[in-house]
Amino acid sequence: MLGQILLGKSPPNIPTIKLNNGQQMPVIGLGTWLSKEGEAIEAVKSAIDEGYRHIDTAYFYQNEKEVGEAIRAKIEEGVIQRKDLFVTTKLWNTYHHPDHVERAFQQSFENLNIDYIDLYLMHLPIGYKFVDWDSKELMPYDADGKLEFSNVDFVDTWKAMEKLIKTGKVKGIGVSNFNSEQITRLLAECEIKPATNQVECNPSLNQKKLIEFCRNLGIAVTAYSPLGRPYAYVESSDSMPKPLLDDPKVVEIGKRYDKSAAQVVLRYLVEIGTIPIPKSSNPKRIKENLKIFDFRLKDDEIKVMDEFNTGQRTVPFKLCVDHKYYPFNIEF
Ligand code: A2P
Repeated sequence: MLGQILLGKSPPNIPTIKLNNGQQMPVIGLGTWLSKEGEAIEAVKSAIDEGYRHIDTAYFYQNEKEVGEAIRAKIEEGVIQRKDLFVTTKLWNTYHHPDHVERAFQQSFENLNIDYIDLYLMHLPIGYKFVDWDSKELMPYDADGKLEFSNVDFVDTWKAMEKLIKTGKVKGIGVSNFNSEQITRLLAECEIKPATNQVECNPSLNQKKLIEFCRNLGIAVTAYSPLGRPYAYVESSDSMPKPLLDDPKVVEIGKRYDKSAAQVVLRYLVEIGTIPIPKSSNPKRIKENLKIFDFRLKDDEIKVMDEFNTGQRTVPFKLCVDHKYYPFNIEF
């Protein structure tokens, strides 16, 4: 399986996958969700120094400026050239109306300020109520504390995103948190096939059916929350699956290769055909998460990892369950 996807090499020796639009995307990236103010810049600099060539951000994360600043600093230092790096950002839900997409993209483009963006994703198929450009409100609640939605069809949002390609400011477009039926609709009604679908993927929710579905269409799957958000787990609650970083079976597999449980999980996600984007703001863990290309899991070890799949989500977007485009009501 691995042989099929690892078609190229990005320096320094990180495998890449060729997307359906011809772009090469390194098969591991740095996630930046919850990289706090002041942290994202150091995390991205340290990641680039360690050899990451793929950075994932979003308008919603409110760290695009820092991410861009770090990238520009590394280009100025001569560590990388712009072409060496694959940078993803995302359209936020308040800007789904086709009339808002270009300006929303322009905001992200100016925040990052790095000549071009490699990949622009629709963050969710669900639109929120538009809030005025000056407001910067990301989660519009009504007086009763209920999240306010829009009914904009994600197909119309996508058609507006397609137009961005012609500007030359972004090389590829894709989606995030889409289910198989929503992808099928896009393919039926739109011109450009999404390059990727970025979804939660970790051993508890290994997404094998969605991965297979996307693979058959030539759509790559990026794995967010690959480590299962260990910081958010509460032992006494069953609202999210237990992260596996101290699971004895995963630790045991790691010992065979002198690897941590996190490295085993990330390697597993690459082996099943995804592109994990672990978030870290810690230089030691940033380095650790990249070192997964000098070992591979045996079939029986993959089976052990497969057994953790319960289908439970770490990130169920509960606030959006009533929306007509809520993506997680069907199996995949
Ligand atoms: P930190 O930023 O302090 O390293 P996910 O990407 O699944 O959402 O997980 C991100 C969380 O996992 C962050 O809180 C991050 O903390 C932590 N983390 C990232 N890499 C590792 C690792 N190798 N070992 C343990 N925890 C990690």
